Amino acid sequence: MAYEFETLKVEVKDGGVAVLTVNRPDKLNALSSVVMRELEAAFAAFREDAAVRGVIVTGAGAKAFVAGADIGELATQTSLQGRDIARKGQGIFDRVENLGKPVIAAVNGFALGGGCELALACHVRVASENAKIGTPEVKLGLICGYGGTQRLPRLVGRGRALEILLTGDPVDAAEAYRIGLVNKVVPQDKLLEESEALLRKMLGNGPVALRYTLDAVNAGLGMTLADGQDHEATLFGVLCATDDKREGTQAFLEKRKAAFSGK
Ligand code: COA
Repeated sequence: MAYEFETLKVEVKDGGVAVLTVNRPDKLNALSSVVMRELEAAFAAFREDAAVRGVIVTGAGAKAFVAGADIGELATQTSLQGRDIARKGQGIFDRVENLGKPVIAAVNGFALGGGCELALACHVRVASENAKIGTPEVKLGLICGYGGTQRLPRLVGRGRALEILLTGDPVDAAEAYRIGLVNKVVPQDKLLEESEALLRKMLGNGPVALRYTLDAVNAGLGMTLADGQDHEATLFGVLCATDDKREGTQAFLEKRKAAFSGK
């Protein structure tokens, strides 16, 4: 599949690793309406493209992952437009979360507002030492509109989320790691390498199992424990009928590495 965009760079590497770079470094990769439209198209294509098995999302340059929604555009939005744009943006980030393939945010600097929300929609976050993550919307007289008020407390707990959301002050990489907002902190020059290594480790496992793990966790977080466990059991049952499960268990018993087909 051809991935050609105005504001994104996409490289599909061997083994199905796609690296998506938000590419507006002169505006600290702010999420203009064009970036959002292109993110939607990219993730729709990743879903269909069997050559893509997992995604790394990062920002161009050494300073910012994504410094938020485009404040120039925000400044002129009416109330009705604001609601529609927030709903649309939430839908686009839901696509990231529900891709069915692992998505890692490689947070290479400022991840503010919509940038923080994009990182939160990814499944795992690796940060460089210079990362600063937060939701400064309240300083603009706004709140998060792309899922931040919902995903942040689910990830770090209500009290820590509210401190970040209500002060608008970003946390640095060490603090983000301490509170579980990022999974790992690495030197900036190792960020993509480490993110890729983590993704490749995941991709060594059964593809259908990865997809159903994401489904069980994403769907389950919106359910009661009982309903979530019921959903888990259904997915477990379906996996028992897959070639991947046959191959994975057989390979273990034969003391060899599994060769998964994703079927
Ligand atoms: N939307 C639009 N443009 C943005 C932007 C955003 N969210 N964030 C940064 N930019 C632009 C700046 O306007 C500037 O453009 P210019 O060179 O044409 O003037 C350029 O990116 C560089 O940013 P600058 O502010 O000069 O860099 P800095 O190092 O002094 O500060 C930040 C970096 C991240 C602290 C600062 O840019 C900032 O606070 N950005 C807004 C963050 C925010 O509130 N995001 C949430 C939006 S909902």
